[in-house]
Amino acid sequence: HWTMAEFRAAKIAEIRAQVGTGRVICGLSGGVDSAVAAVLIHEAIGEQLTCVFVDHGLMRAKEADQVVSLFRNHYNIPLVHVNAETLFLNGLAGLTDPEAKRKFIGKTFIEVFEEEAKKIGGADFLAQGTLYPDVIESVSFTGGPSVTIKSHHNVGGLPERMNMKLVEPLRELFKDEVRALGRELGLPDIFVGRHPFPGPGLAIRIPGEVTKERCDILRKADAIYLEEIRNAGLYDAIWQAFAVLLPVRTVGVMGDFRTYDYVLALRAVTSTDGMTAVAFQFPGDFLPRVATRIVNEVRGINRVTYDYTSKPPGTIEWE
Ligand code: XMP
Repeated sequence: HWTMAEFRAAKIAEIRAQVGTGRVICGLSGGVDSAVAAVLIHEAIGEQLTCVFVDHGLMRAKEADQVVSLFRNHYNIPLVHVNAETLFLNGLAGLTDPEAKRKFIGKTFIEVFEEEAKKIGGADFLAQGTLYPDVIESVSFTGGPSVTIKSHHNVGGLPERMNMKLVEPLRELFKDEVRALGRELGLPDIFVGRHPFPGPGLAIRIPGEVTKERCDILRKADAIYLEEIRNAGLYDAIWQAFAVLLPVRTVGVMGDFRTYDYVLALRAVTSTDGMTAVAFQFPGDFLPRVATRIVNEVRGINRVTYDYTSKPPGTIEWE
């Protein structure tokens, strides 16, 4: 039986043996897995590692800043931060089909990452935060054997294209073990305990066309929802909670005025692995309070609904 301290020491030795004097590049997604992998690898090989964070502008409020500050300030690990918001938003203009959006984001992500890898003179290894469940369910979270329900966005496809070997120090671990390792490595609790967040980000939480204005509206509403969840002490009881901005407008009334604004859907589920999920049951006054706050505080939204659909038949994300 391993302790996380032993696992950490063993992995560091293993990474050093595998990499030798080679150069490693690691793509950060903003999530826990890639951050833990990067910090562990940095401890093993220091400056032979370059971390690249491709910021597609589809993150939640403050998320990009948290990643950048975790690496630069908390750990003093050099980080290449690519701000590619305009590139991604320009390419998303006019796209409404969920798979078209996912494919554009996945492809563009790889292109930007490759360009950055070239700038630093290439690397011998690509580091990834692949977990054990990713290894065994390598097809997709939702897809059956022959049907792709959603094209998952990760850096799959990069190693072959770039002719690099993989460094995947978390391959034997489950999510809760990665979190324990993250704590062992000194990552802040708020970062380690984060809910999963999909690679394509807010783009798949805005059905229809993604625009900067819609992203900004969604970020504000999502931040209020999560703030209330944290204040109520419910964050850790929930697998994932988020808001979805619908491209539908409805009529409302604010003071003496008629409003005609977007509808927001709130989602929160419990799950053990993301494969199946059940809607979270909030205590009685929670959702009305959040709905009122969002409509009062976020311009552009005048109606809030809650999604009670289980997975299956629904999926966790709306696209
Ligand atoms: P669905 O919506 O398929 O989501 O029920 C299951 C879990 O997977 C996450 N998800 C993704 N994660 N890249 C990711 O890294 C993706 O493209 C992606 N799409 C969905 C989703 O947030 C949920 O946790």
